[in-house]
Amino acid sequence: MLGDQLIKNERIALVEVIKNSYDADASWVKVTFEGFGENFRVDPKKSKIIVEDDGTGMTRSILEKHWISPATRVKKVAKEMKDATPKGRKIQGEKGIGRFAILKLGKTLSIITRPDKSQEEYTLDLDISHYDDDFLTEDSKPKDLFLDDIKLTLSVAEKATRIKAELVELGAREEKRKPHGTRIEVSNLRGSWSEGRVRDVYDDLIRLQSIFTDIDIDPEDKPQPEFEVLIYKGSEFQTFSDDYVDRLHTLIQQNAVLRITEGIFDQDKRTFKFQLNGKPMVLPLNDPDITGIALFRDAFGQHGEVLEERDTKCGPFSFGFFIFDFSKEAAGKYLLDTEQKKLLKEHRIYLYRDNVRVYPYGDPDDDWLQTDMYRGTKAAGMFLSNDQVVGFVNITQKENPKLKDKTNREGLIEIGDATRDFRNLLQILLAWVRKKPYEQYRIGVRTTKDAEIVKQQLVRARLSELEGALAGNKPAQAAVQEVAKLYQAERSYLIQRAETTETRGGRARLTAIGLILQNACVMHQCC
Ligand SMILES: Nc1ncnc2c1ncn2[C@@H]1O[C@H](COP(=O)(O)OP(=O)(O)OP(=O)(O)O)[C@@H](O)[C@H]1O
Ligand SMILES: [Mg+2]
Repeated sequence: MLGDQLIKNERIALVEVIKNSYDADASWVKVTFEGFGENFRVDPKKSKIIVEDDGTGMTRSILEKHWISPATRVKKVAKEMKDATPKGRKIQGEKGIGRFAILKLGKTLSIITRPDKSQEEYTLDLDISHYDDDFLTEDSKPKDLFLDDIKLTLSVAEKATRIKAELVELGAREEKRKPHGTRIEVSNLRGSWSEGRVRDVYDDLIRLQSIFTDIDIDPEDKPQPEFEVLIYKGSEFQTFSDDYVDRLHTLIQQNAVLRITEGIFDQDKRTFKFQLNGKPMVLPLNDPDITGIALFRDAFGQHGEVLEERDTKCGPFSFGFFIFDFSKEAAGKYLLDTEQKKLLKEHRIYLYRDNVRVYPYGDPDDDWLQTDMYRGTKAAGMFLSNDQVVGFVNITQKENPKLKDKTNREGLIEIGDATRDFRNLLQILLAWVRKKPYEQYRIGVRTTKDAEIVKQQLVRARLSELEGALAGNKPAQAAVQEVAKLYQAERSYLIQRAETTETRGGRARLTAIGLILQNACVMHQCC
């Protein structure tokens, strides 16, 4: 029940299994759909999902003491002694229940594992297909079932037969397998599969680690990942195009209106620091542009009183955001075509802990920063839309111990104020981006557009087109000529007024008044 009923879907289940391979310092994980029909149709007798890695494997003692007992927090204890694996990875596991997620995939398991520096290979078999999903019957007969009634068998091969140093195909290359690792075979599959679902799994799995680490590196120069996930259908390598990461990077490099990079929230100094389009910025929480944001006042009091009594509880974090203009007014490189918009809409703000993704944040249908919700319930103009922002937030287990995953692996738990503070800070920062730099950009777009109208004398041109189109209708043509004359008179009058004001040195004053009005409008959202 911990696996099947707690975990939402097969995607999250596979992610859990693969995180265990990551923790075991594997350099690759192969997910094979064995015995599936066309379009990944499940054959109840033949279909199996096999997840194999070249990690450290499990010793007999780990299998006997931990694998078969729920919530033995070996990793949590190990982490307290040493916080990284020999490969330097921060251990992801903590609760001691992730493996049960495999039972979301199917009811019969066989775990074959060979620990590092051992000739022995162990096979642990578990079959729960005799029980109903609620464990109330065995072979359809009612039964009071307890955990120790569930039978597992462990067989030991003194000389490994499955996990051996032999050639293994990994996509386009072949290499000699390391003589250790784990292979999990799941049969009696529960759900149905299709090419689309496998592609979704693939998208999730290749996004397990941050896709933002090498944004500015050329696709050809990007290093080989140190942890690779490969999907096979039988012996066929499944090559779903994954150039979307490169395409996303190109969009970020070339078409983002605002690039907020190298961002950190310094909890001690209560300050955001970042580069805005390459320019260093420091934005303390007591900056009037921040305290003026309604979200700030809702979260931390009218004048930030809450922060006088306590610190923010989430801990420091780092971030990067890339803001695009989805409107038709966007000009030049900022104007996006349908394909580009489609790609951007598939990515939102990802959350990574020690460089590994916290699901489902970042998924297209996830709104963890409640942006769409606020846009719907408050003034839409106050917030950037979810579509136009792509980005990431990085946290660590060490610095953000209170930001913990829910047991069902669907986001962070609300403990005390930590998660709430974290979310509030990010929402406030994004509201600031909308209110200040993005607004300035929008004003620039509007002004350029208006200036173009004047420069090209578009009104006059359209009026004479209209006059032409009214040929044969003398009174209407006369009316249009009259409008043209009046427009010209008004234009001359306004130009003359503007020039007089300027010569009297009034320009600065007018600009100042204009700016005050503009800011007031932004603050009160009146336009
Ligand atoms: N692929 C694997 N390679 C090596 N050991 C594994 C593998 N999968 C599971 N294990 C072992 O089984 C134990 C249980 O895994 P499980 O995912 O249930 O818990 P966890 O990773 O410790 O914590 P969490 O519930 O947070 O994932 C792990 O601590 C690890 O020792
Ligand atoms: Mg785990």
